[in-house]
Amino acid sequence: MNGPDFVVVANRLPVDLVRSADGTQKWTQSPGGLVSALEPYLRARQGAWIGWPGVPDVEVDAFEEDGMLLQPVPLTSADVREYYEGFSNATLWPLYHDVVQRPVFDRAWWDSYVRVNQRFADQTAKVAGHGATVWIQDYQLQLVPSMLREMRPDLRIGFFLHIPFPPVELFMQMPWRAEIVRGLLGADLVGFHRPGGAQNFLWLARQLLNLDPTKAAVGVRSRPGWVLVDDRVVRVGAFPISIDSAGLDTLSRRPHVGRRATEVRESLGHPKVVMLGVDRLDYTKGIDLRLHALHELLQEGRVAPDDVAFLQLATPSRERVEHYQEMRADIERIVSRINGEFGRVGRPIVHYLHQSVNRQELAAFFRAADIMVVTPLRDGMNLVCKEYVACRHDQRGSLVLSEFAGAAAELTSAFLVNPHDLDGVKGALHAAITLDEAESRRRMRALRRQVLTHDVDRWARSFLEALGPPAHS
Ligand code: ADP
Ligand code: F6P
Repeated sequence: MNGPDFVVVANRLPVDLVRSADGTQKWTQSPGGLVSALEPYLRARQGAWIGWPGVPDVEVDAFEEDGMLLQPVPLTSADVREYYEGFSNATLWPLYHDVVQRPVFDRAWWDSYVRVNQRFADQTAKVAGHGATVWIQDYQLQLVPSMLREMRPDLRIGFFLHIPFPPVELFMQMPWRAEIVRGLLGADLVGFHRPGGAQNFLWLARQLLNLDPTKAAVGVRSRPGWVLVDDRVVRVGAFPISIDSAGLDTLSRRPHVGRRATEVRESLGHPKVVMLGVDRLDYTKGIDLRLHALHELLQEGRVAPDDVAFLQLATPSRERVEHYQEMRADIERIVSRINGEFGRVGRPIVHYLHQSVNRQELAAFFRAADIMVVTPLRDGMNLVCKEYVACRHDQRGSLVLSEFAGAAAELTSAFLVNPHDLDGVKGALHAAITLDEAESRRRMRALRRQVLTHDVDRWARSFLEALGPPAHS
């Protein structure tokens, strides 16, 4: 077999097929951190990417883009409903994010998850070259490692989870818990963002499958744990993901990005302080609570309406899932409440865009913002905060960051907040608004040192080195 020797398998391709009403189609970048992180890395390395093209009921042939082979896996409307919106995003997503919404355990959804995972495994088995390295991504595909190993024992298989791995007490709610742990153990290396996730997983391997995993503390990019599964050593480690820091730093230095940042501040009415939020519109991201914090600061007179503008970008996401619809309604209600109470004609306080913007526009927004507000209730890593830091070569700007984002362990010079503590969030926003310039620069310098030296390349290299060379070499 002489297929590609490096294959990424993810729920989505890096590009989504978009069909317009007039019947024309085009490809656009897929949403989310997984694609932002991996796409530049894989493009440089070449190889194949196996994933769903983002729309149901279409059959698309494999195609090549910039030297990368894109292999679509079709999903029917029923698959999208049961495997993607259902089991992935209404069961696993809330369960793995600390049950901030109640997960739904539906047996038909589970059956669909098994079927679709098998389809991804079958497609990968067909595409991957002999002895290739296959890197499976994220919670939608946790059964693929063992399904693939069954068919192709010649492959070197890695798995990385981009979202948090939950505390064991929460994971134990899952009716198919042993199946999921067994599915992941088909890999040679299972990677998480944080050592805590790796340790939870090792504990579950003992508890649910009677295996005998290591007990020593797992390090960051070092000292992975391991467990013996049918004569195979499966390693389990922590590899915090990051961004293309140098690429964003370069983009943000371009003169047109600087000009656009100035224009953005002008369009916002030249306030003293521009605050920014950039997220998928997801109930885990805490968009509503940061707006509530701003609302109270305005009500209490601690922030003057003329001094502040809040720009909130919220990419549409999983729009047919009920909790997402509820969150959108909550956010839009609080936006109009703040603007109704504190805005003036031609001068709203909150500028809310329920849309995606391109990289250059995003870099300009990052440069225009005095305070970046990132307040998830739980987030595996959160790349947005790292992107903000990478764009601040002027060493200005402050970051308010939730302790419950994986990134908080690295970005300790941010204003770290407990998002459940509204007074704490208000205090941090107020402290960031009133911070003196020397302290702000000191913090930003420290943040940049971390982000520029720990980029996505380092993440991928550390994972792939731990995974080991392709099986055939
Ligand atoms: P998640 O993977 O949960 O969406 P991350 O913060 O890890 O969260 O990654 C989100 C990615 O999507 C980042 O690269 C961010 O820049 C991008 N993004 C989020 N919202 C927008 C938006 N409105 N327009 C353009 N890009 C966005
Ligand atoms: O890791 C978070 C994640 O679920 C990724 O798997 C995904 O690419 C991204 O968020 C966007 O979500 P979705 O593919 O459901 O739009």
